[in-house]
Amino acid sequence: MINISDRLAALSISATLAMNQRSREMISKGIDVINLSIGEPDFDTPEHIKEAAIKAIHDNFTHYPPVSGFMDLREAITLKLSRDNGLRYSPNEVIVSTGAKQSLANVMLSVLNPGDEALMPAPYWVSYPEMVKLAEAIPVIVPTGIDQNYKINAEQLEAYITPKTKLFIFNSPSNPSGQVYSRDELKALAEVFERHPNIIVLSDEIYEHITYQNKHESIGQFDSIRKQVVIINGMSKAYAMTGWRLGYMAGPEWLVKSCQKLQGQYTSGACAISQKAALAALLGDQSAIKCMVKVFKERRDLVISYLREIPGFEGEIPQGAFYVLPDVSAYFGKKVGDKIIHNSDELSMHLLTEAHVATVSGKPFGAPGCLRLSYASSTKVLSEAMIRIKHEMEKVR
Ligand SMILES: Cc1ncc(COP(=O)(O)O)c(C=O)c1O
Repeated sequence: MINISDRLAALSISATLAMNQRSREMISKGIDVINLSIGEPDFDTPEHIKEAAIKAIHDNFTHYPPVSGFMDLREAITLKLSRDNGLRYSPNEVIVSTGAKQSLANVMLSVLNPGDEALMPAPYWVSYPEMVKLAEAIPVIVPTGIDQNYKINAEQLEAYITPKTKLFIFNSPSNPSGQVYSRDELKALAEVFERHPNIIVLSDEIYEHITYQNKHESIGQFDSIRKQVVIINGMSKAYAMTGWRLGYMAGPEWLVKSCQKLQGQYTSGACAISQKAALAALLGDQSAIKCMVKVFKERRDLVISYLREIPGFEGEIPQGAFYVLPDVSAYFGKKVGDKIIHNSDELSMHLLTEAHVATVSGKPFGAPGCLRLSYASSTKVLSEAMIRIKHEMEKVR
């Protein structure tokens, strides 16, 4: 009998995509499901970006692009890194990929050997441990608590480093917790990495523009660890370009070359038309981002005000991204009708089937006591969803 490989058999299906799929199926059957499971802005891509893509088609950017991306785009990325983050990179230290997801996978496959350890604070983004497993390495989870705003500190980090630690992966602003690291918090972590120069620090900054209080800080700003830091970013969240599949990484040239080798064999360069659209996005008017963040902040405040009214939904106010991650473990072991809710998987499923609201269980994010709700929907839709959740939770005894 022919079976799929052990490597693939060990891989989990993306929990967020699975929940999204399930709610789409219910919607297609005519059920009025509100989907709070998706991680994508509900805004459309700004017009000037779409125009640039249309022009690219007319200008026949329809051939294979260079594997590492067009030079003008790589230059624009270095400009963006300097403008927005104060980071200095040359185009040789940048590679364009088919989404930040591919950039992350490229790096993991480039640096991890079987048996190497990749550290990540929990809650983490669902795909990190799976990508590590695909590279036949070991995800090592550093637990954090609600009391520390789900952020790792220097002592915890140091305690989990072993001679096998090859990689540290994190994101700020965080999906799923919405928390944001300050400069001082990052500096403390950087000092630990300075003592461990063989560890690659993979900093996923895809939500950098979506912050509500303090500006995003990059761990790439500390010169003492510059050779170790790899920045991941992309167009999906800041420019509402999830469908264009365009991301990039900036880091040491040897790593860029390795990712180039991998892309050369796996996928070739990212879509030429999307690259031209990304160029327009990075160099053009940035005001759409500010408007989007203002709307996200109103939505966050609305969702938080509803959550405060639901007993047993605990958590701090998220400072970035567009997710809330309430701890709902107070409900575990309680009954609704004759059904007992044992965990967040069951609670999430119950809310989908009974309240017709799609959320994601915190379990695949390493937060088994929590539910993740995305507030990338209109205030009207969010209000309706939160009322449905509140009513459903009132039935739990
Ligand atoms: C933390 C994080 N990193 C990376 C990605 C993937 O981004 P892209 O659409 O560029 O592949 C996502 C998407 O949800 C994300 O939440």
